[in-house]
Amino acid sequence: MDGNGRWAKKRMLPRFMGHQKGVKSVKKVVKFCVEQGVDSLTLFAFSTENWKRPKEEVSKLMSLFLNALQKEVIKLNENNVRLNVIGDRSGFSTEIQENILKAEALTENNTGLFLNIAANYGGRWDIFQAMKAWQKQNPTLSIDALNEDALIPFLSLHEQSDPDLLIRTGGEKRVSNFLIWQMAYTEYYFTDELWPDIDESSMQKAVDSFSDRERRFGKTSEQIKTC
Ligand code: FPP
Repeated sequence: MDGNGRWAKKRMLPRFMGHQKGVKSVKKVVKFCVEQGVDSLTLFAFSTENWKRPKEEVSKLMSLFLNALQKEVIKLNENNVRLNVIGDRSGFSTEIQENILKAEALTENNTGLFLNIAANYGGRWDIFQAMKAWQKQNPTLSIDALNEDALIPFLSLHEQSDPDLLIRTGGEKRVSNFLIWQMAYTEYYFTDELWPDIDESSMQKAVDSFSDRERRFGKTSEQIKTC
């Protein structure tokens, strides 16, 4: 969800107002995904590197996150959305951690959109936490027993299919330590639009671009056509 700061700067507003407007885009995007019957949406809300931002901005982001967990979750629940937070929760305040657990418990039996919020998340962190969890569960096994299939159950989002589409807003063309394991075969879509300007029509453009892609998963074009 990149571009909140620049959106605010362009309007001579403080950065946090860009984040506030960004929450409105979150709502539009979630609504779009619910209406389109998308199985799973993962939003990168706060990276392991974002703690390095000015204290005041980090604190405002934490307030927005807490507010969403306490208030927006009611509407999410009414819309059959399952909320799931991925990332290292131990970095958050006790209040946020408790509200994450509450929001997840409230929505756990829902069967609609899986809404994953990546918070204090990093792709490298994810791979390492999975390796540590594997070792904890298999203390007597040697590292030679570890392979892709053995590691997958310990990675974030292991119960969901790998993402089909990554949408990066704000003009940057990089992945910034997002779901680096899970996105091995994901289609990437980059747009110059800033996150607070993202709406249903921006999402439709991304989906249209995705529909034009040929996904070969390592095979040849001919092999895909005869499948
Ligand atoms: C990146 O834009 C955005 C973030 C680091 C925060 C995103 C958070 C929200 C939209 C609000 C909280 C989220 C939820 C799910 C409640 P940037 O600040 O890096 O923008 P810039 O590149 O223009 O500076």
